[in-house]
Amino acid sequence: MRDQWNSKVGFLLAAIGSAVGLGNIWRFPYVAATNGGGAFLLPYFFAIITAGIPILILEYTMGKTYRGGAPVTWARINKRFEWLGWFQVMVAFVIGVYYFAIVVWVLSYIGFSFTQAWGADPSAFFLEFLGLTDSALHLGGIQTRLLLPFIVVWALVAFIMYKGISKGIEMACKICLPILFVLILILVIRGLTLPGAVDGLEYMFKPDWSALKNPSVWVAAYGQIFYSLSIAFAIMLAYSSYLPKKTDVVNSAFITATANHGFELFAGIGVFSIMGYMALQQGVDVSDIAGSGIGLAFMTFPTAISSLPALNALFGICFFGALFTAGVTSMISILQAVVSGFHDKFDMSHKKAVTVVLVPSFVLSILFITGAGMNILDIVDAFINNVGIASAGVIEVVLLTRFFNIEKLRQEANEFSNFSIGKWWNYSLRIVTTILLGVMLFLNTKDFIYNGYGEYASADVNVFGWGTILFAVIFADAFTMMDGKDGYRDLHKISYKEVN
Ligand code: ALA
Repeated sequence: MRDQWNSKVGFLLAAIGSAVGLGNIWRFPYVAATNGGGAFLLPYFFAIITAGIPILILEYTMGKTYRGGAPVTWARINKRFEWLGWFQVMVAFVIGVYYFAIVVWVLSYIGFSFTQAWGADPSAFFLEFLGLTDSALHLGGIQTRLLLPFIVVWALVAFIMYKGISKGIEMACKICLPILFVLILILVIRGLTLPGAVDGLEYMFKPDWSALKNPSVWVAAYGQIFYSLSIAFAIMLAYSSYLPKKTDVVNSAFITATANHGFELFAGIGVFSIMGYMALQQGVDVSDIAGSGIGLAFMTFPTAISSLPALNALFGICFFGALFTAGVTSMISILQAVVSGFHDKFDMSHKKAVTVVLVPSFVLSILFITGAGMNILDIVDAFINNVGIASAGVIEVVLLTRFFNIEKLRQEANEFSNFSIGKWWNYSLRIVTTILLGVMLFLNTKDFIYNGYGEYASADVNVFGWGTILFAVIFADAFTMMDGKDGYRDLHKISYKEVN
């Protein structure tokens, strides 16, 4: 028997918990600030309307109707589509493995916040903490100081996962989300009442309209939306497969997206107002200190926390505590996407599926607590997002709009929804989303082929960038070819309890 959410609110909290993650708290402010500031909000809003919400409605409808993890859902739509489900599951698996590493760092930083152990030079402290080597291929051994938080986070995640959908994930999100909200609220109030806050907000929100002419700004907007809403990599398909049939998916998609983007803006206000204060203290421009993704969280922000006039430990704990709660609720959704994939195709219990997924994830994540961890993470993250998720998204919309009658899904979506979606949805997916995503994938791939990635040597990029994509493709092939349990493609042979 498949598990089921206890209530619609439980599902929504889990879906919001998945969407609101590390990506919202530091990735969004940074991506927005470096891609036109306030002007970024326009392509971003466009991306939400043309891709984010339509695909979220699509995935909720697919999951709810076909009731399986990504591979089984795709196989039930058309048996030749199963491969895409496995590819999406493999993308989630890869993200899960490195996402975990960031949660481990965050947990350590909650501890460091008590005494601001990062001292006067948080950047040097962070690099030393990671034992960072000079290349992704130079592993430099396991960093033993990371072992304890590593084990603690694994134990916590495994505990939640073994408990299952309703007792584990739903419960964890019910506990974590209110805490997350309060922590961010404290940061926002503190940030906005500091001198210099306005400069930080101006840096994030001030429009640079010329940025709209730059295709890479649009690419960044679409890239952020997929990661942020957890779409096109098996998560929302899996989560919605535990929904009762009579769910209003349109309304649920709007609520999830609004909560996610609202939270993103809110967190951005908190982060950048505090950065504005720090810039004022140092007499520099916010742009000089903003830093990049990982740097923003672990280098710039600790500096900002140390520079606050009082209660530094409290605000450090709030920031890293927020990252931790957001990270855990997303981490479990990423793993559940993979677990559902195995559980629904193969004849295995929930516990066995969790073990099958956790053991290799555990082993591979050890790579990220070696001295090369952050370098590997940086490369894998760039490729799995810009090539992996982007191609999974393009193939998803192309298969459904060109080789399947998407109108069937629109009617299915509308059946129990108060607010019906019109035909615009079909066209938006078929034309706008397909073209924009296709262009995005093409530009990203071309850029990686011609320019490599960052400052990394081509051997590093080949092994961990292209190698990761190849890894996902090979395993997707293998799992597609394996025999599943009897009639796994037949919706009616699977038993589930129906609750309202
Ligand atoms: N949606 C999750 C995040 O934003 C994966 O971090």
